[in-house]
Amino acid sequence: MNIYLIGFMGTGKTTVGMALAARTGWTFIDMDQEIARREGRAIPDIFAQSGEAYFREMESDLLKELTSLDRLLVTTGGGVVLRPENRDLMKQTGFIVSLSADKESIKRRVSNQTGRPLLSGGELDQKIDRLLEERKGLYEDADIQIDTSARDVSDIVDEILAHPL
Ligand code: S3P
Repeated sequence: MNIYLIGFMGTGKTTVGMALAARTGWTFIDMDQEIARREGRAIPDIFAQSGEAYFREMESDLLKELTSLDRLLVTTGGGVVLRPENRDLMKQTGFIVSLSADKESIKRRVSNQTGRPLLSGGELDQKIDRLLEERKGLYEDADIQIDTSARDVSDIVDEILAHPL
């Protein structure tokens, strides 16, 4: 089985995923990084040049591949939950950790980083609100849910590992 980290952009998936991989010794896979590596271009370029639908296909194809492997610590992109078949695949093959954060934390974290095409251009608050509304409920179907807003990474990792996998 694998561990899948799901959650909206800026909820700490990559940070927590790397720490969890270090603690468990499982192989860390960041899906966005893997897609960018395979494509030889950054995520915003994939969106701009080939469109979101193309990216979603790559994302689902990669997830399918990963589900046939074992002991992976998989950090997903925030939109992986949009397709029901992706949600089913993760459920069937692993333990799902859902991370959330309050809007201020999300804003602070995504403002410090670049490379999120769905949040670029226009008013950040409105974009976050709209996407959160569109995805309401999709991040709740998980084995464990953790709010990362004001917590240490090592605390979060402890809480996850306290659960029987
Ligand atoms: C997306 C989230 C991003 C990345 C892409 C689309 C989304 O990943 O996959 O920009 O639809 O929420 P992060 O959640 O790691 O930022």
